[in-house]
Amino acid sequence: MLTPEIKVLPTPDALAQEAAERFAMHARIAIEQTGRFSVALSGGSTPKALHKCLAAKPLRDQIDWTRVQIFFGDERCVPPDHADSNYRMARETLLSQVPIPGDNIYRVRGEIEPADAAQEYGQLLKEKFADGGLDLVLLGMGPDGHTASLFPHTAALTESKHRCVANHVEKLNAWRITMTAPFINRAAAVMLLVAGADKARRLESVFHSEPNPQEQPVQMIAPGSGKLAWLLDAAAAGMEV
Ligand code: 6PG
Repeated sequence: MLTPEIKVLPTPDALAQEAAERFAMHARIAIEQTGRFSVALSGGSTPKALHKCLAAKPLRDQIDWTRVQIFFGDERCVPPDHADSNYRMARETLLSQVPIPGDNIYRVRGEIEPADAAQEYGQLLKEKFADGGLDLVLLGMGPDGHTASLFPHTAALTESKHRCVANHVEKLNAWRITMTAPFINRAAAVMLLVAGADKARRLESVFHSEPNPQEQPVQMIAPGSGKLAWLLDAAAAGMEV
């Protein structure tokens, strides 16, 4: 893996703008080189500001959305109109605001049995990427060091065969569907967006303590031949704000 980049932005909005400009750059390069741009969106709250930047001028008009293919790094096991659905959040904050064809959006069917949803999505990823990976994976990190739905001490952390699995998260008493670390690490680029003072202690541990992926799954993210960029706001970086 190339040496990870770590960039600290002064505010969450500056972080979102930086991530949006990089998204547009990755899209432009991938479309120039291959005619398409495949990207996995992340759930949670941090991506909302990023989506807002992408859905607004000028970036909205700088991206050829007809060439963009949207995937999801993880999904909650709920229907697509449920308040917890990552797809719903993406649809409301980005996908309904840009001219992307519906056929370019590959939703995880969170409304069906978790094992079936994972199997179906994994098959799709195999068909789309074979032994390759996405052009870009967007990720966040929870205060517990999880990323996507790779939570500490859960079965998905040791999955090495499948690109996508159903993962039971005891502490949430919930099933999640998640891309696996080996598949995420096949991406040409990964951007990890982390904002908020509640992430600072965990980030310190992730960057400076011994690798302990069972405890801090985000440490499993190391794209093989791809680029990894951590985009942090000052609060998450532990700087005085
Ligand atoms: C999810 C996300 C999850 C998220 C982190 C950070 O489905 O919840 O994929 O991995 O990125 O929990 O969430 P925030 O951005 O809300 O802090």
